[in-house]
Amino acid sequence: MIILGFESSCDETGVAAVCTERGLLAHALHSQIAMHQEYGGVVPELASRDHIRRVLPLTTEVLQKAGLSFGDIGAIAYTAGPGLAGALLVGASVAQSFAWARGLPAIPIHHLEGHLLSPLLASPRPDFPFVALLVSGGHTQLMRVDGVGDYELLGETLDDAAGEAFDKTAKLMGLGYPGGPALSQLAEQGDPSSYDLPRPKLHSHDLDFSFSGLKTAVLTRLRHLEKESGSLSAQQRANLAASTEAAIVDVLAAKALKALKQTGLKNLVVAGGVGANRHLRRQLLAALAARRGQVFFPPLDLCTDNGAMIAFAAAQRVRAGLVDLADTSHAFTVKPRWDLQDVCERETA
Ligand code: KG4
Ligand code: ZN
Repeated sequence: MIILGFESSCDETGVAAVCTERGLLAHALHSQIAMHQEYGGVVPELASRDHIRRVLPLTTEVLQKAGLSFGDIGAIAYTAGPGLAGALLVGASVAQSFAWARGLPAIPIHHLEGHLLSPLLASPRPDFPFVALLVSGGHTQLMRVDGVGDYELLGETLDDAAGEAFDKTAKLMGLGYPGGPALSQLAEQGDPSSYDLPRPKLHSHDLDFSFSGLKTAVLTRLRHLEKESGSLSAQQRANLAASTEAAIVDVLAAKALKALKQTGLKNLVVAGGVGANRHLRRQLLAALAARRGQVFFPPLDLCTDNGAMIAFAAAQRVRAGLVDLADTSHAFTVKPRWDLQDVCERETA
């Protein structure tokens, strides 16, 4: 079966066609980064309007790339949450309209389940069970994944998400939006041991995170350096970026390794936008090689939001028999706040 999937939860419009047997057939993406850049962050109303503009041309592009016509599509998938309400409504209503017009089932997908399963789009792909480190702009979670729809939360951030920590500290340093890639790029020229920044909860026994203190530490350091020498030199800026990145990455890596130890599992999967971070990738690859485990990442272009992961998650659910394909009712709702545990199919005691 071929599934057409739509992603519109935040600032990327993504459309993709995935075959339940053959995998990803084609995907197309439009990023709104350039549009939001002048405001220093996502403007929800502008995001919704842009999704409306982009979604149909992207759909045509995907069908053309994959050599498909509408008659070939067997089901429609869309991100139902979490995310920005208006933005979600665009993808959801377009998806439901297509499904209604063609008498097809529509499959609502949890955005984080899309990220969580996206490393299965890469080759080699991990076998279940594995530990997943989900690191996006809004979420930082460690999950035990035993199969499609079988997720157990092991730990999560108590305040800011890892992506948020990148974005907020980058903003303090006058770097553009989104901050993660900009800070990471600057960090490549810096020395991560230059400034000693806090690594909150690094040695705590639980698997939770806390990143909100980091921005205050970076701000204090920034003010101190400015007081000492006026404006920062290019090298000082790179050193501060590298030290900030190292503080975030050290905590993420340490907690991911602790989760592997506690669960006794060997495989780690990293998903979400921060999974594109080169320093995090290098550190985890080295740590897992040393423990004879393996770490899996989504293909680099599918780390941040995209339609492929949504169509793919729907395909996995169909294959696992978790979707009622006979249900072609089209009443729908979106869920701006939505716990991943709610899409877990395993009965909990
Ligand atoms: O998963 P995602 O595309 O959107 C959400 O679902 O939130 O993640 C976006 C987040 C942003 O905070 C962005 O700064 C961060 O991922 N990010 C990065 C990198 N690329 C994206 N953070 C660090 N290093 C990167 N290379
Ligand atoms: Zn995301």
